Amino acid sequence: MTQLQRKYGILTLIFEKTRVHLDVLGFFPSRQILGNFGTYLKALPIAFLHKSNSRIPYLKSLQGCLTPQFSFTPQRHHPANSCLLPISSLHGAAVTTVEGVGSIKNRINPIQERLAKCHGSQCGFCTPGMVMSIYALLRNHVKPSMEQIISALDGNLCRCTGYRPIIDSYASFAKQTCCQLRGTGQCCLDQEELGCSSSAGVRVVIKLFILTFLKTYKSLSFPPQRIVQEQQRKTLIFCSKRTTWISPSTLKELLELKAKYPKAPLVVGNTSLGLKKNDCDAYHPVILHPLRIPEMQVFSITDDGIVIGAACCLAQLRDILMETIPKLPEEKTKIYQALLQQLRTLAGEQIRSMASLGGHVVSRGSAWDLNPILSAGKSVLNLDEFISAFRQADRQKNAFSIVNAGLRVLFSPGTDTIVDLSILYGGIGSTTLSARKSCEKLIGRQWNDQMLSEACKLVLEEISLPPSASGGKVEYRRTLLVSFLFRFYLEVLHGLHQMVRTGQAFYNYCSDLKTHSCLQDVDPGQSPQDPVGRPVMHQSGIKHTTGEAVYIDDIRPVDGELSLAVVTSVKAHAKIKSIDISEALQVPGVINVVTAKDVPGKNGNDEEEAFAKDKVICVGQIICAVVAETLTQAKCGAKKVKIAYEDLQPVLTIKDAIKHNSYITKERKLEKGDIEKGFKSADKIIEGELHMGGQEHFYLETNSVLVIPRMEDKEMDVYVSTQHATDKLVASALNLQSNKIMCHTKRVGGAFGGKITKPSFFAVIAAVAANKTGRPVRFALERDMDMLITGGRHPFFGKYKVGFMKDGRIMAADFQCYINGGCTKDESELVIEYIVLKVDNAYNIPNLRVRGHACKTNLPSNTAFRGFGFPQAGLFVETCIVAVATKTGLPHEKVREINMYKGVNRTAFKEKFDAENLWKCWKECLVKSDYHSRKTKVEEFNRKNYWKKKGIAIIPMKFSVGFNATYFHQAGALVHIYLDGSVLVTHGGIELGQGIHTKMLQIASRELKIPLSYIHFCETSSTTVPNGKYTAGSVGTEINARAVQDACQILWKRLDPIRRKNPKGKWEDWVSDVSVSSRGYVTDMNWESKKGHAFPYFLYGAACSEVEIDCLTGAHKNIRTDIVMDASFSINPAIDIGQIEGAFIQGVGLYTLEEIYFSPEGEQLTLSPDTYKIPAVCDIPEQFHVYLLPNSCNSIAIYSSKGVGEAGFFLGSSVFFAIRDAVAAARKERGLPLDFTLNSPLTVERIRMACDDIFTKMVTVFPFLFMHPGLVITWS
Ligand SMILES: Cc1cc2nc3c(=O)[nH]c(=O)nc-3n(C[C@H](O)[C@H](O)[C@H](O)COP(=O)(O)OP(=O)(O)OC[C@H]3O[C@@H](n4cnc5c(N)ncnc54)[C@H](O)[C@@H]3O)c2cc1C
Ligand code: FES
Repeated sequence: MTQLQRKYGILTLIFEKTRVHLDVLGFFPSRQILGNFGTYLKALPIAFLHKSNSRIPYLKSLQGCLTPQFSFTPQRHHPANSCLLPISSLHGAAVTTVEGVGSIKNRINPIQERLAKCHGSQCGFCTPGMVMSIYALLRNHVKPSMEQIISALDGNLCRCTGYRPIIDSYASFAKQTCCQLRGTGQCCLDQEELGCSSSAGVRVVIKLFILTFLKTYKSLSFPPQRIVQEQQRKTLIFCSKRTTWISPSTLKELLELKAKYPKAPLVVGNTSLGLKKNDCDAYHPVILHPLRIPEMQVFSITDDGIVIGAACCLAQLRDILMETIPKLPEEKTKIYQALLQQLRTLAGEQIRSMASLGGHVVSRGSAWDLNPILSAGKSVLNLDEFISAFRQADRQKNAFSIVNAGLRVLFSPGTDTIVDLSILYGGIGSTTLSARKSCEKLIGRQWNDQMLSEACKLVLEEISLPPSASGGKVEYRRTLLVSFLFRFYLEVLHGLHQMVRTGQAFYNYCSDLKTHSCLQDVDPGQSPQDPVGRPVMHQSGIKHTTGEAVYIDDIRPVDGELSLAVVTSVKAHAKIKSIDISEALQVPGVINVVTAKDVPGKNGNDEEEAFAKDKVICVGQIICAVVAETLTQAKCGAKKVKIAYEDLQPVLTIKDAIKHNSYITKERKLEKGDIEKGFKSADKIIEGELHMGGQEHFYLETNSVLVIPRMEDKEMDVYVSTQHATDKLVASALNLQSNKIMCHTKRVGGAFGGKITKPSFFAVIAAVAANKTGRPVRFALERDMDMLITGGRHPFFGKYKVGFMKDGRIMAADFQCYINGGCTKDESELVIEYIVLKVDNAYNIPNLRVRGHACKTNLPSNTAFRGFGFPQAGLFVETCIVAVATKTGLPHEKVREINMYKGVNRTAFKEKFDAENLWKCWKECLVKSDYHSRKTKVEEFNRKNYWKKKGIAIIPMKFSVGFNATYFHQAGALVHIYLDGSVLVTHGGIELGQGIHTKMLQIASRELKIPLSYIHFCETSSTTVPNGKYTAGSVGTEINARAVQDACQILWKRLDPIRRKNPKGKWEDWVSDVSVSSRGYVTDMNWESKKGHAFPYFLYGAACSEVEIDCLTGAHKNIRTDIVMDASFSINPAIDIGQIEGAFIQGVGLYTLEEIYFSPEGEQLTLSPDTYKIPAVCDIPEQFHVYLLPNSCNSIAIYSSKGVGEAGFFLGSSVFFAIRDAVAAARKERGLPLDFTLNSPLTVERIRMACDDIFTKMVTVFPFLFMHPGLVITWS
């Protein structure tokens, strides 16, 4: 018996060495049991149990929605979203989690090994999910195609890597790679030297390690006892106090049960019902689970078509269609092709593997993609019939459709006269809508332009979408109705003439991904043992892939631990009249409620309160915290706290703030030259504005804290996911000295600036609760809470006035920049300063005035984010360049070149720099991207295509590294040498995924002249290196590196006399008889005063991107990006390239995808991955090349390196400007003005509406269709 069975007698867990099998024999009546179960599964950290309102236990991922994999038979393995998977549905299944795939203790799987060695993980939080997705794929398809590999990953999100290395590592399993093509026996992938042609990505993999063959690794087999059990089918019933789950084994039984419990839903994948689990109306006393009924799983091909059981999952349906279509005559496959097209982009693989066809049809979600096409394809198709499906979502894959459509037309034989027509739309009403009346009116019409024009008018009249329709985007959605109709019209027209379906090939491009990352060569004389400059694998890479890397919430519960849930403000600005906690205290398990009154010391800092006391200043501000035995009880208690408010007038947007003169700091101003004179000398002057939305950090590990009070002296251990030590704020809240608060951070699952300021406040909340109760307290924010409470990148509004000559020379510019700082100061002062200091980017504007204002509003406080204001400032100045190019009619790259800094120069704030490397990067990028000839090809493409346009843009970059204050450029390190020769390195920097510890070990290895295997890093802690500064600003690595180098050099010197005595001795001999422990603390690394400048040094780069847009839908695909980056001598080129790529893709997210919505009352509406879309695997350029500029040096930083953590971000704007170029081509052809403004992000909606045409006009001629103002706020 297992430990759990002994305790509760309800559950059978069959533990093999590497896998756990579940037999759900009872139900889990208490949350605590679930908690314990979760703990018990710590060895399986991607899955633990929690309870929903409907009291079905769910497998929930510890690390967001990761992917366990289950199978009921040896034949099919299902990757699954653990947060939606009912545990009861797993009876008889074999569940494999990442530990079952491989572990360091036993043996790692090649899937894990390749991902780690190919640098496919940074923070590692998403990594087990990636492993599981590919594992499931390889179990189902031994030799997958590249398309299948990309599909397998399209439901997984990674915020760090930019996906390129993940795809590269798994490309090595694809049948297209030579390893598979050559079959068994000797294969080139077995060699270290490459002797065959494979994708560039694979080449990098092979360079780094010898591939382990998959066939040499024995995968887990399906347990035979499960097969025997399933053969003895009988009805399974699981009961709890509130819910009964019945899984019948025959259809007859199911029908009887349905008659007995008519209201009981049938749950198969639970992806529809499960989404409503927090909805109170979603409680079901009886649930029927028909998955084990053989008739529900059938599949056969008949003369009339394909018969598919309703419980078959969508992934199965896709695979069946892919196999069947090539075997059937083309005219019989039209509907299958249309279905397949939708299935390729519908949801992600995990959902497709769980969701059933029956569930999809019956649940009839408004945006469900298959229903319009299934309804349209009502008859047996023949030669005179056409059917197509369309969908458009915010993101190409793994996003609900904004609008989808299924259209079918039947002609009278041999003519183009319509006999039957079906037009159905999803995403408009509460379910699929049919334009039945329009279709009836069109019967008998010929398929020509007049019919189309009439059809558009009829459809727009029939399918109504009121201005206040939920989901907004009303104009866009209506435009899509007619755009899809038009596309169908074209397809049919084409088919009528050629009888060939043209298809919608726009998205089917992922199978041809080409990536290339140039690594640097080290000096041939460098010792092979010296790892500096080499692409050493991330120190935790293997642990990331096996799930053995520990994050805060992976720390096992400690004795007496309590869970904490916060109560947050629902008002943007209000007085707190009263807080009533009495009902909360009645909730079973609730121990206490903590408010501002319980803070013994200072409630936060001078700028911000930890607990709101008298007033709330934004929605999401923490007012109090409920601590309870379990998280469910704490959350339940939090719901019972009653707060009475007195409303005050909120200020929400930048424009509101300007009106109310509401600012966080004084204006920041910079002037250069004589602005008035400059404008007078200019040939022309233009003025304009730019709005930019904010950005969520969307780190995959949400903020988490565990506080454990010690027994003596009021000491506390604080485990916190942060970018710097939080001891000071916690100590001041508890009225203690900092030396009593021991902060620990092993690693952080992504931060990007979002964990600089806020985690200290979360630590204070948990510490005050621990202090009040005397018990350990865990506070791990759920995704929606994290997004609600924390701010992100500052929304930006800029006004420009630019004077320029006819030849493109900018003579003068006057910039007014505003950011929305939110409700407290946080980092807003620094961000606006950086905007003012960096707004020139690569351009020498002789007469320049910049004024910056940080607005104070009642939104959650915006904070640091990778690039610190530069991504906003850079986009702004590049918008001015484009405006000048448009007015002068000159090529954009010419205007850029003519205004770029040349030679040795001074910035507006008089800092000297040499622009040589800026030009080198620019020229190298022009060459590497083959810019000029590709630009000609783009123009040629645009001449030939009316509804699709391409665009290309090349952007230069001057990026200033570091902070404009000495204070931040300090670091410390502690290096111990043990008597056995092993070395322990500690420093003040935090591992955020940027590989800081790996680089520190490389440095220690070089300085102490010992192999990497001798050196270990344990954790960042205030007990070893106090007063750590922010790990941020691209300099975290290099300032800590100096400290590690310093400490190692001191120790090396100390060993000198011993070495001299025994010069032939080994390292172990030298260290065995001396106590060597030293600290190197660098306090005088004053970058600013050394130069008397704002930034330690500059880093240059350039990027060229090409895109294609679909003018009818606004979709775009990133065709190719080439980046040249001046990284100088990289300490670890694999890590640095990972930083450049990851930052670039985050930039692409900011500029083209990620959009935050607020209600007019100031409540953020985008609080989950459902509504907030970060780039996924489908968003990376088909061709992605990163080059490090050769022969560059940097005398300031350690080993002549440069900090590249942030710089790549802004280069994502090359995609923005390439899209703009494509939109301009469309507008030019339509005779529209070219001096249009495009705001950021360039979402599908903005792209489509900017490609103004007859369809957008059709929509706007209906006056009632105008977007209702004030429904949502985007730019804030
Ligand atoms: C993250 C996520 C992303 C998604 N993205 C997309 C997307 O991009 N495009 C898209 O189209 N859809 C998308 N979906 C929706 C998905 O397609 C549907 O949820 C799914 O098809 C429903 O199937 P299910 O088996 O999970 O249904 P369940 O949730 O198990 O059941 C849903 C309903 O169907 C009924 N039902 C189930 N089977 C039967 C049957 N055999 N006979 C009668 N009634 C039955 C049940 O009673 C229940 O009311 C997404 C869902 C999620 C969670
Ligand atoms: S490595 Fe993927 S989220 Fe960090």
